[in-house]
Amino acid sequence: MGEKITLSIIKADVGGFVGHSAVHPALIEKAEEHAAKAKKNGIIIDYFCGHCGDDHAFILTHKKGPGNEEIHKFTWDAFLDMTDLAHSLGLYGAGQDILSDAFSGNLRGMGPGYAEMEFVERQSEPIICFLADKTEPGAWNMPLYKMFCDPFNTAGLVIDSNMYQGFNIQVDDLKEAKKVTFDCPSELYQMLAFIGAPGRFVIKHVYSKKTGEIAAVTSTQRLSFIAGKYVGKDDPVMAVRCQSGLPAVGEVVNPFAFPHLVAGWMRGSHHGPLMPVSMKDDHPTRFDGPPRVVALGFQLKDGKLVGPRDMFADVSYDRARQIANEMADYLKAHGPFEPHRLPLDDMEYTTMPIVMESLKDRWETDTEENKAKASGKTI
Ligand code: 13P
Ligand code: 13P
Ligand code: MG
Ligand code: MG
Repeated sequence: MGEKITLSIIKADVGGFVGHSAVHPALIEKAEEHAAKAKKNGIIIDYFCGHCGDDHAFILTHKKGPGNEEIHKFTWDAFLDMTDLAHSLGLYGAGQDILSDAFSGNLRGMGPGYAEMEFVERQSEPIICFLADKTEPGAWNMPLYKMFCDPFNTAGLVIDSNMYQGFNIQVDDLKEAKKVTFDCPSELYQMLAFIGAPGRFVIKHVYSKKTGEIAAVTSTQRLSFIAGKYVGKDDPVMAVRCQSGLPAVGEVVNPFAFPHLVAGWMRGSHHGPLMPVSMKDDHPTRFDGPPRVVALGFQLKDGKLVGPRDMFADVSYDRARQIANEMADYLKAHGPFEPHRLPLDDMEYTTMPIVMESLKDRWETDTEENKAKASGKTI
């Protein structure tokens, strides 16, 4: 067996340009500086600095395993440095995802999101890194279900002798900090009862049943649960290994041809379609959206990231983008009404407590007696 490699995607929004629409080029340059230094010092093997909307993502390879202090610390220091730069440029929401000022071992609960997995590199190791903006970690549930559970998406589930055994899928309950692993396909229906509610239940890990190998990992931090108040949606990331007993690259990217509805968009308080875009179009602008996803494909070789290939920069996604734009028009026309606006408990912004308080003396109990009074009758 070869040596284990760790792939880490570590991301944060430390300031938007302009508003919440993009990462300023100077911040990307700063991130590059930190990553190049870490590579030179042997902390990491390789890196790619990616972004989606106003979120910067370090895509890293190393041999230190998930949750490693040195890896998390170097990205934390980079994000702090980028935050200073964001302040000096007056960028919007500078330091938005920096929730703590003292690093103590790893990034857990500190604001940045991360998805990490450790594995022995195969002879050929194709990996797709997905980065999203203006949405939440549960946005990956439906695409992951299609990749690993749905034979109408993934032909290999039926015709590949290394895949038809199925997958073990770990689901986290973000509200109660619990997890459970489903044996799929036999427990698909039980799993769907949870993952169909993506605001709370989120797929975290996927493992091949044939080999026990890890196949996918997502970031599951939920800033609103961590901070207890609105500090921006999580804008999640995910990494998926492909081929040879795992879904083929085409089976991994195909689910995004359907721009499903996700929570996020304007002020983190609206439903909108998740639009698959190329890196050059990863700037959510219209009504701060619609929500975006980019897919960066790499071949790993001795831990080196060969790539990326910009997977959604392909004409076969034009129709998904067109449908997403039409869905955006349709939903946007609902204005402040649900289901465009999120249900009361899921909104990241709300005036409800103030409005409720200001009207507290004007709400009358709607009893039969009051109704009769209003119509001038006696009972
Ligand atoms: P593998 O079984 O080598 O993953 O090949 C499947 C494939 O690429 C079909 O599209
Ligand atoms: P971000 O979570 O991407 O910073 O967006 C916040 C927002 O309010 C968009 O309207
Ligand atoms: Mg932002
Ligand atoms: Mg963002």
